[in-house]
Amino acid sequence: MKITYHGQSTILIEVNGKSLIIDPFISGNAAAKVKVEDIKVEAVLLTHAHADHILDAAPISKANHAPVVSNPELAAYMSWQGVETIGMNIGGTLDLDFAKAKMTHAFHSSGIIDEENKNILYGGMPSGFIIEAEGKTILHAGDTGLFGDMKMIGDRHNIDIAFLPIGDHFTMGPEDAVQAAEWYKAKLIIPIHYNTFPVIEQDGDAFVRALEERGIKGRVLELGESIEL
Ligand code: NI
Ligand code: MN
Repeated sequence: MKITYHGQSTILIEVNGKSLIIDPFISGNAAAKVKVEDIKVEAVLLTHAHADHILDAAPISKANHAPVVSNPELAAYMSWQGVETIGMNIGGTLDLDFAKAKMTHAFHSSGIIDEENKNILYGGMPSGFIIEAEGKTILHAGDTGLFGDMKMIGDRHNIDIAFLPIGDHFTMGPEDAVQAAEWYKAKLIIPIHYNTFPVIEQDGDAFVRALEERGIKGRVLELGESIEL
């Protein structure tokens, strides 16, 4: 399995020549090291409806004939943009053939703000995903604040790598993310959802040092950097 970080919350997971991408936000990220048209995937997973998670979902889905996988409300919204969708919900597991994706809860919001019509579309419940393939378990926490059931998720899943937001302001910040890391009990923690915008600037290396002080392994992935396991 090869996992590549493309900035913000964008994670590409490759398993035996097949791939899925979670929360593609590339064209809106000046620091991105990849082009939207270079993304080759079998599925596009979305944790929630905010633009910094769904921005490039439709073009990637269309170009690859790859379904968008999300909560049912966001799936309906995406289907109106002409993409194939698979709606699922929290607690459910989708078998993608090359990987399994379980939808977990996240403590956040998920509306789509239509400024022009002064309307807010309900975007369904925000989520995270637990991806299982080749006997490995990867957690993408989505956008979330700290919540106690992270401990339950950590107790029930043997997580190899957990991708946790640390940007603060819209999600948990580094201090709460250290607590989340303790509860998820992942073998490796990788920070996401930071430094894309001024309001979520954080020191990834300082976060990794804070993890190490608690005996937890962390690693900063640069944009475009991959990890093999
Ligand atoms: Ni969000
Ligand atoms: Mn976000």
